Amino acid sequence: MTSATNEHDQVENEGQSSITNIIGNGKIATDVKQALNGRSIVFVGIMGVGKSTVGRRVARLLNMEFVDADTEIELAADLSVSEIFEKFGEPYFRTGERKVIERVLGQGQQVLATGGGAFMDPETRNSIANKAVSLWLDADIDLVMQRVLRRKTRPLLQNSNPRKVIEDLMETRNPIYAKADCRFESHDVSRDIIAAEIIQMLNQKLVEIPASSGEQTNLQESK
Ligand code: S3P
Repeated sequence: MTSATNEHDQVENEGQSSITNIIGNGKIATDVKQALNGRSIVFVGIMGVGKSTVGRRVARLLNMEFVDADTEIELAADLSVSEIFEKFGEPYFRTGERKVIERVLGQGQQVLATGGGAFMDPETRNSIANKAVSLWLDADIDLVMQRVLRRKTRPLLQNSNPRKVIEDLMETRNPIYAKADCRFESHDVSRDIIAAEIIQMLNQKLVEIPASSGEQTNLQESK
């Protein structure tokens, strides 16, 4: 075995042991799945916060399927999100987004990462409230900017001051994200650790989130 492979294995093992330190060897994940009682987990929050990368890891730890709403929209349209915005405009994208999320939520239990604007739609919020537990993945603006600047594919950020766009979006959207069933504040550790911490939080909170919660107004703070 090469030393690079050794190093890689060591990092993997350390990651695994940190996850095990947080959620043990399986009982917490099993309990969370049981408490979900067939409901999906839906990640909402500002673009760049890590809904897809963290959502995928949460799904893996819970042995659930992961779906990314933007990817589903792109597949359905056979166009990228940027191309949809460019060719047909944002309202067309939002209609597609609403339909895709409704369809995906009808396909059984899964972990779903939504695009940053999806939860602004009252119909979408209602479908989510009926079929899922919603989780607002929040973070401070500096962490969001660090991540958002890595990818140039977000149509709403194609202008000279993306930080101002994100600040304005956070100001108008955060009160709506706050309607989610629970909130997790991300921080600067690996996505695997964030995923494990989210499962740990869900283990504590799910008992408080009724099966068909309807529109939520109260926010359960975490971290
Ligand atoms: C959007 C966020 C994007 C994507 C689209 C619009 C938004 O998804 O849906 O560019 O309105 O915030 P991510 O949050 O996954 O980047």
